[in-house]
Amino acid sequence: MPNPALIPTFLRELLVARSLPREPEPDLVMDDPQQVAAYAEAGRIDGIMASSYLFHSAHITQVIQGCRSVLDLGCGPATQLAQIAQFNPETKFKGVDLSDRMLEDAERHVRTLGLSNVGFSQGDITRLENIGDGSVDAVISTMALHHLPTLKHLDDCFAEIRRVLKPGGAVYLTDFGRLKSLKSVIFFAYMNSQHQPHLFSLDYERSLRAAFLKEDFDSLVDRYFSQAVKVESTFKVPFLVIVKTEDKPLPIALRDRIAGMYKALRPRYRRDLNDMRTFFALGGLRNDPFA
Ligand SMILES: C[S@@+](CC[C@H](N)C(=O)[O-])C[C@H]1O[C@@H](n2cnc3c(N)ncnc32)[C@H](O)[C@@H]1O
Repeated sequence: MPNPALIPTFLRELLVARSLPREPEPDLVMDDPQQVAAYAEAGRIDGIMASSYLFHSAHITQVIQGCRSVLDLGCGPATQLAQIAQFNPETKFKGVDLSDRMLEDAERHVRTLGLSNVGFSQGDITRLENIGDGSVDAVISTMALHHLPTLKHLDDCFAEIRRVLKPGGAVYLTDFGRLKSLKSVIFFAYMNSQHQPHLFSLDYERSLRAAFLKEDFDSLVDRYFSQAVKVESTFKVPFLVIVKTEDKPLPIALRDRIAGMYKALRPRYRRDLNDMRTFFALGGLRNDPFA
């Protein structure tokens, strides 16, 4: 049973006719020390993003099975990337970000965890100059694409993904989809404000205002990829979008590990994760790794 607090927002989004205009992020690159700290802290300490991290780590792990090299675009503090790297110790990961501060934080995080399969590179995800054509098995990105200033930059980023991917390579890109009503934006950004640093809520609000439309992802996938890449979204209200290739079966030990982490989540975060599972499943996403 999804969180009942979501129902009025869901109904409002169905009734409002047009999407909000896009407002690009004021700080495209996350370089402000307090903003970086608030983001990293919300991800690690009280774990407000624990459900989203585990959801995407599990789904990404299904998509990248068998891949030897994976590029993460806009890796930020690498909380998400480190969890995926822990699930996939045989795979080499490279996180790309423009922010030095984020990369310092990311380096520290993977060092603390003792991970040897993750490296970082400073760079712009719309111009992957140091990455060769057809050189990576998979490209992933979580909650970073809305930082791009314009749809043209998103287009450039998709062109770069296609260029660096080996033929038939794996893809998993996820981000917010733009909502229709400002009231819904405020609801989502502040619904957990008592459990998260204020700067994190502000950043969340800006992210939602800067999100691209699901239709933007649909047309870029049509332009740059074959039918092997699909656009998935939450049911009826495409508040979250995933662009992905097919899933492969997970080894049993990894499934058990993911199930253990799911059970160990605090009840509030397990409920959030179940909401994501439900809304994506109703939207058509298959192969739930938590089932
Ligand atoms: C909201 S964070 C997401 C971090 C991480 N992927 C996660 O899921 O927690 C977005 C990141 O994208 C980075 N970023 C924004 N524009 C970028 C660009 N053009 N090239 C590389 N990184 C960029 C920001 O510096 C920031 O670290």
